[in-house]
Amino acid sequence: MKNFKGRDIIDIKDLSKEEILFVLKTAKRFDPEFVKKDRSNYEIAQGKIAGLLFFEPSTRTEQSFRAAAQKIGMGIIGFNDPESTSIHKGESFKDTIRIIDSYADVLILRHPQGGSAKEAAEVAEIPVINAGDGPNQHPTQTLLDLYTILKEAGKLDGITVALMGDLKYGRTVHALSLALSRFKVKQIFISHPKLKMPDEFTAILKSREVEYEEFDHLPQKFEADFLYQTRVQKERFGDLNEYKKIKDKFILDASFRKYLDQGVKLMHPLPRINEIDPTLDSHQNAIYFKQARNGLYVREALLALVLGRL
Ligand code: CP
Repeated sequence: MKNFKGRDIIDIKDLSKEEILFVLKTAKRFDPEFVKKDRSNYEIAQGKIAGLLFFEPSTRTEQSFRAAAQKIGMGIIGFNDPESTSIHKGESFKDTIRIIDSYADVLILRHPQGGSAKEAAEVAEIPVINAGDGPNQHPTQTLLDLYTILKEAGKLDGITVALMGDLKYGRTVHALSLALSRFKVKQIFISHPKLKMPDEFTAILKSREVEYEEFDHLPQKFEADFLYQTRVQKERFGDLNEYKKIKDKFILDASFRKYLDQGVKLMHPLPRINEIDPTLDSHQNAIYFKQARNGLYVREALLALVLGRL
């Protein structure tokens, strides 16, 4: 498959099932669990520059992209504090993108506004990778989530995945639900009624004849292969009193261990605040830190692919 070179990665919906599977297969080439000798990776993109523009805070996405770029031999430019740039003097978003476009070979953008990655891609000639645009999309997170599910379950068809927490504002669950809908996956949604999966996404699931169920509590008889827990997104609430009323309703405390013992694998895009009890971390089926590590391999693969180096 050769059509990744020069391509923008803006929305998971832009990738076909075959393309998603190709990225996941490529990520295995960077994963020490599958490839013991990875030193050749350091030369794949030598001489290329990644421009990382982070207008919104990030730990995993920014640092794993920085690590991924360097692991395949790239240099890095960019910022994570726009106030330290000429944006502070009033320079526009588009002009900022134009400038980085002339210095870098791929642009990685995190921004609080939905649609900003698309806007950047319209201006930039180099490939733009959306590293999270407001409540909209975070396609590299989706790819690493799928990679984790595939690695743990050995398949993407014939499994059940439950998504829990903030299904209204959580861009990770929107995109993951859509991506899973390309496979034979039963989906379970668990959230406060005010944070339900939006109709625009369930409408797509219906049109694709995806089996799904919705609950306003964790069901007593809970059967799923994966539970994907999420943080209630304080920064997306207009009314903070509403946030305070809802934020602690869907916490997984130590009693969730019984489900982990039964084989449910617990994922979370992180950061977590208090929605997973840290005493669960040591359980082999609490896989959120492994999930974050997988982001490195997926991002190495994506960078190499859009640069045409694989
Ligand atoms: N999961 C994720 O996007 O984390 P960061 O916000 O820390 O990048």
